[in-house]
Amino acid sequence: MNKILLTIAAAVAICFSACAQKNEKTGMKAHQTLVAYFSATGTTAKAAQSIADITGGTLHEIAPQTAYTNADLDWHNKQSRSSVEMGDTNARPALKETKTDLSGYDVVFIGYPIWWDEAPRIINTFIENNDLKGKTFIPFATSGGSSITNSVKALRQTYPDLNWKEGRLLNRASTESIQKWISANGL
Ligand SMILES: Cc1cc2nc3c(=O)[nH]c(=O)nc-3n(C[C@H](O)[C@H](O)[C@H](O)COP(=O)(O)O)c2cc1C
Repeated sequence: MNKILLTIAAAVAICFSACAQKNEKTGMKAHQTLVAYFSATGTTAKAAQSIADITGGTLHEIAPQTAYTNADLDWHNKQSRSSVEMGDTNARPALKETKTDLSGYDVVFIGYPIWWDEAPRIINTFIENNDLKGKTFIPFATSGGSSITNSVKALRQTYPDLNWKEGRLLNRASTESIQKWISANGL
């Protein structure tokens, strides 16, 4: 019996110490964090992984029901899938996972590649399919050079009831700079 109690006490102590270390670094452990991202070619996925590593948050891919092919992503072609979707503010590409259980999370990082200076429409599908009221939203993006500003402005305008924090472009961002940004958000 004593042995069992000792084992439990040791396990609890190890857990507390691990949590405290996270706290010292970022303070994130006080929150339940989700790192949700859409990435067509893997760049935003890498940034999302860094955020999850730093925060200890859960990584969640916002996956389309039908993956984007290279032809779908051809922005030179006005008829390509991405061009047609981005030309229509009401387009809502279907998700692989229609609804996600987000009830346990209070902070949601939401990441995407910039498409035509905006967030891809699948981000709208994700927001509209799920119950996100009361959560803090922190956008992040990667791009070929465009800033994140316009995409965040559009998201704020479309979903004014959500609690948006300042967004951040993470093109070639170092772990240190991501860490600083997360701390600066008071998280
Ligand atoms: C359809 C489409 C539109 C794009 N539009 C822009 C844009 O307006 N500005 C920009 O800087 N980059 C643009 N890009 C480049 C992507 O934002 C960039 O390559 C991004 O890092 C890709 O992320 P991913 O690998 O996670 O999909 C576009 C890419 C695609 C496929």
